[in-house]
Amino acid sequence: MRLAVIAGDGIGPEVVTEGLKVLGGVVPDLETTEYDLGATRWQRTGELLPDSVLDELRGHDAILLGAIGDPGVPPGILERGLLLRLRFELDHHVNLRPAKLYDGVRSPLAEPGPIDMLCVREGTEGPYVGNGGVLRRDTPHEVATEVSLNTAFGVERVVRYAFERATARPRRHLTLIHKTNVLTHAGSLWSRTVEEVGAEFPEVTVAYQHVDAASMFFITDPGRYDVIVTDNLFGDIVTDVAAAVTGGIGLAASGNLDASGTHPGMFEPVHGSAPDIAGQGVADPTATVLSVALLLEHLGLGDQARKVNAAVAFDLSTRDPQQPVRTTEVGDRLAALAGG
Ligand code: IPM
Ligand code: MN
Repeated sequence: MRLAVIAGDGIGPEVVTEGLKVLGGVVPDLETTEYDLGATRWQRTGELLPDSVLDELRGHDAILLGAIGDPGVPPGILERGLLLRLRFELDHHVNLRPAKLYDGVRSPLAEPGPIDMLCVREGTEGPYVGNGGVLRRDTPHEVATEVSLNTAFGVERVVRYAFERATARPRRHLTLIHKTNVLTHAGSLWSRTVEEVGAEFPEVTVAYQHVDAASMFFITDPGRYDVIVTDNLFGDIVTDVAAAVTGGIGLAASGNLDASGTHPGMFEPVHGSAPDIAGQGVADPTATVLSVALLLEHLGLGDQARKVNAAVAFDLSTRDPQQPVRTTEVGDRLAALAGG
């Protein structure tokens, strides 16, 4: 396996080291190449993602990313110039974000019940495309637009991926989340697409919710969800809620995928660079390790993915909540459990 590694900033390198420890234990022929990208490189050289680096990344089987960001970099620079550029250039139209409440993990909900959902967030369209502009900037008459782009091609491929995932799960249920009562143009495209693609998957039951109501149900009744499909911005928001109710951002994994397999997928914990705890060895690497499991699954290494997931499940169910997390200790335990 040829893996590109972008450890990034803050706790990124700390959690990635542990992710690689676990991955190396289940994939003997792992070959890694590290890429120095992120806030530090930008501050030093002004470079975000040189074209030559992007070309090299394309030649790998997958990319493992830690975290990008630093309080010293103005908002938008690294997001647009690096993270979103990678997602767009590598056609990561599926942003896969499972949210499962593991045994032994405390949810902030009083009675969460079982939670096991798989959010399929669209990754290359919506309001993220940068289709907008500003008129009369810095005047009282400033006008700013941020137009959401939704194509039949783009919606169809992510909806199809979501149905394929739903049909392979025991509950075979798919919920579309949107705001079709207000965003009537894009909403109609999404609803019609779900209906049309859904006709090919009669075994999958389909539900629809407006994003505001869904945000409420994520908290009052998260157990109702199985697979979710939604657009880029709604998906960004509801997956943070999903992470919160399943134990927090320290456990939330994600995969940015090109479902056609043309471009390498990029796997990253949902959390950021957490500069407040960087360098202390206290970041939980579990989200990165779960992202490694998504990576293995995407590359067709299902047995190895199951080992990593089982290691995480066992570790979480046996952790002493009184003991503070030590990054390397969690990584050592998970590597031993998954590789043994
Ligand atoms: C995420 C992040 C990114 C997003 C930001 C950093 C661009 O919030 O991965 O969820 O909005 O997608
Ligand atoms: Mn987000």
